[in-house]
Amino acid sequence: MELKKELEALKGDYEKKFEEINNLQELQKLKAELLGKKGKITQVLKNLKNVPPEERKEIGKLANQIKQFFEDLIKAKEQSIKDKLLEEELKKSQIDITLPPFWIEAGAPHVVKETLKEITDIFVTMGFSVAEGPEVEREEYNFDMLNIPKDHPARDMQDTFFINKEGYVLRTHTSPVQIRTMLTKKPPIAIVAPGRVYRKDADPTHSPMFHQIEGLFVDENVTFKDLKGILKKFLETVFGENISIRLRPSYFPFTEPSVEVDIGCTVCGGEGCRVCKSTGWLEILGAGMVDPNVFEAVGIDTEKYTGFAFGLGIERIAMLKYRIPDIRLLFTNDLRFNTQFKGI
Ligand code: PHE
Repeated sequence: MELKKELEALKGDYEKKFEEINNLQELQKLKAELLGKKGKITQVLKNLKNVPPEERKEIGKLANQIKQFFEDLIKAKEQSIKDKLLEEELKKSQIDITLPPFWIEAGAPHVVKETLKEITDIFVTMGFSVAEGPEVEREEYNFDMLNIPKDHPARDMQDTFFINKEGYVLRTHTSPVQIRTMLTKKPPIAIVAPGRVYRKDADPTHSPMFHQIEGLFVDENVTFKDLKGILKKFLETVFGENISIRLRPSYFPFTEPSVEVDIGCTVCGGEGCRVCKSTGWLEILGAGMVDPNVFEAVGIDTEKYTGFAFGLGIERIAMLKYRIPDIRLLFTNDLRFNTQFKGI
């Protein structure tokens, strides 16, 4: 009965050892010592054949009981160690609600988009509808059909962004939308076309990408008076009833006669300053009566119809209205700048 005593001692011994353990590696090690291939209890069970037959049954039973006892103990121990580890992990990653939060800055509608919308709305209120065209435009619509001949300076490589697709350019103005509209619609036509345009230009007042809005009105008996009346109403809505307006004869290939429209300087009130280059006037837009060559290119009867067109730069209007000194401020995406115009 030596073996029986030995087994009982083993049990007492290892029970104590297991009690002291508090990590999984040690548990694994102790388990191997006892129940592994060469473990102490495994060994006893292996050697049962050497035990005298009359004791074999009792010893075998006891060894198996002890084996079962430790298997259960190890399982329970393993679970309790894992629980403890998890608890510690959770304690470590607990959210510290006393920490100040990251500041998520709210943006604001951009002043250029807001100005574009404001201007579009003024014309929509007058009865114009909104038309659109692509920014990658056919050279034919951007130039030829607008009566801009092949050797015109506006086609110079310096102004136009050519792309590697024969016959296409980044549109240099919104005027090709006039062509697109007249090719698909019969008069009466009254549209405005807001959108992005591109020119090889970059300085404090010019950006290689900027926004324009184009206007086109075609019907029977449209006269220069109509153009003047619409523009006056528009400028008074944007800059106030008291704004002074001046029309200067000018030249655009697609309008005849053509004018440039100035307003009294919004900065100095006409006295002369840096913004108006001491002239007291600010150039605001280009306009004129649609040139008969343009009507012919799109197949509109020049005997029956007349029309006017105008085009203006949105950034320029925004800069004058809100006294923004450098056009680049509009494109730097600095929230400190952008949010100034919130709710304006
Ligand atoms: N397209 C001209 C420009 O970009 C503006 C304009 C439009 C002038 C319509 C007259 C008529 O400068």
